[in-house]
Amino acid sequence: MVMTDNIKLKYFIETWGCQMNEEDSEKLSGMLKNIGYTRTDDINEASIILFNTCCVRENAENKVYGNLGMLKKVKEKNPDLIIGICGCMMQQKGMADNILKRFPYVDIIFGTHNSYKFPEYLNRVKTEGVQVKEIFDKETQIVEGIPVDRESSVKGFVTIMYGCNNFCTYCVVPYVRGRERSRKPEEIENEIKDLVSKGYKEVTLLGQNVNSYGKGLEEDINFAGLLRRINKIEGIERVRFMTSHPKDLTEEVIMAVKECDKLCEQIHLPVQSGSDRVLKVMNRHYDRARYMSLINKIKKEIPDCTITTDIIVGFPGETDEDFEDTLSLVKEVGYDSAFTFIYSRRNNTPADEMEDQVADDVKHERFNRLVAAVNDSVIRGNKVYEGKTVEVLVEGPSKNDETKLMGRTRNGKLVNFQGDISLVGKLVNVKINRAQPFSLIGEVI
Ligand code: 5AD
Ligand code: SF4
Repeated sequence: MVMTDNIKLKYFIETWGCQMNEEDSEKLSGMLKNIGYTRTDDINEASIILFNTCCVRENAENKVYGNLGMLKKVKEKNPDLIIGICGCMMQQKGMADNILKRFPYVDIIFGTHNSYKFPEYLNRVKTEGVQVKEIFDKETQIVEGIPVDRESSVKGFVTIMYGCNNFCTYCVVPYVRGRERSRKPEEIENEIKDLVSKGYKEVTLLGQNVNSYGKGLEEDINFAGLLRRINKIEGIERVRFMTSHPKDLTEEVIMAVKECDKLCEQIHLPVQSGSDRVLKVMNRHYDRARYMSLINKIKKEIPDCTITTDIIVGFPGETDEDFEDTLSLVKEVGYDSAFTFIYSRRNNTPADEMEDQVADDVKHERFNRLVAAVNDSVIRGNKVYEGKTVEVLVEGPSKNDETKLMGRTRNGKLVNFQGDISLVGKLVNVKINRAQPFSLIGEVI
C-alpha cells in the first residue's frame, strides 16, 4: 500500500525553450513538492506528467505534439495518469482548443500568466474528475512567494522582470509573455539573500530585456542601479544577467559590470543580423555601427569580457549580401558563443506576412556557413586560455564524464577537470591545459 502511494506521488516535468521557461518549471516543481510530490526523471513511473512548452520556433512546437501523441497509449493503460500542458505555446490564440481536439486525454491546460494556479487546477482534476483549461489573455500582477525547486544547489536563476515590449517582427514572445513588469528590488534582494542562506554562490538575473528593468516601479531605479544594489549582498560570489537588448544597453550598465566585483565579465547581446537593412525590418532599433560601438566599448572597459549572441538566418528578404554582412560581423566581434537559429515563421507576427520568404535550402546553406563561422570564432576565443589559470566555480560532475568535475570561469567558459566531489560549490583555481571547441580542460592547482 505504501509502495503504491509512493509511486502515485511522483511527477515528471519536461521543459522546452529559454531560461525563463526553465525558471517557470522550477516554480511548478516547487509547488508540486510543496504538496507532497517527488520528482522523477522516468516518465513511466510518474502519476503527473507536465509539459512546459515553447513557441518561439516551429520545431519546439512539433516536439510537444510528438510527445503528447506518445502519451495516448500510456493514458489508455493508466487512466489515473494526469497530463498537464502549459507555457508559451498555450498563450497562442486557439492553441488550447486545438490541443484538446487533437489530444483529448490532456487533463490540465494553463498559460504563462496563471501558472501560479497550477495546484488549484490539479486539485480540481483530482477531486472533481474534470478537465481544466484556463488561459489568461493578459498578464497579471507579479505573484511573489512561489516556492522554487532549483535544479542546481550552486547557482540559481532569479527573474527580475517579466514580458517584453519590443515586438521584433519575427518574435511571438511579446504576445505570449505580455508587457514588461519589473519585480520590486527588495523582492529580488530577498530572494538572493535566501539563496545565499541555502549555500548558493551564483545567480543569473533573468528578463527578456533586463536593460529596461525598473520602468513602472514606484521606486526610481534602473538596471544599473539594481546591479549595484545586488553587488552589495554579502555571500553571493557571482552575478550574471541575460538578456540585454542592444538598443537599451547603457554605458552605466557596462561600467557597473566593470566596477562591481561580483558582476561577472560576460554579456549576452543578441545581434540577430549584421545587415542594417534586415535589422530595420526586424524592428530592432539599432544598426550595425551602434552595435559595434557597444562591443568596442565593452572590449575597452572590460578586456576579458566574453560576448555571446543570438543570430537568425533566413529572415524574410535576407539577400546573399545581407547574409555576408552577418558573417563579417561574426568575424569582427569574435563571439565566445552564439545561439544560431533558422528563421521560423510564427503566426500573427509581422514577418510571417512578408512576401519575400527565403527558400528552405537557402536558409539551411546559410545556417551551415554561419555555424562554421561561429565555431571558428569560439575555438579561437578558447585557445587564448591554454596555459592560463582561471577561477572556476565547481557546479558538479561533468556531463560527459562522471569521473570529472565541471564548472565555469567568471566569464562563463565551461571547464572540465579531475577533482573530488567535495569541491562542488567551491571556487578553485584551474590551470587550463587544452582548449576544446566547447570546453576547456584543466587541472586544479
Ligand atoms: N525564428 C527564429 N529564431 C527566432 N528567435 C525568436 N523568434 C524567432 C523566430 N521566429 C530567436 C532570436 C531570439 C532567440 C531567443 O530566439 O534570436 O533572440
Ligand atoms: Fe522577442 Fe525581440 Fe522581445 Fe527578444 S526583444 S523577446 S526577440 S520581441
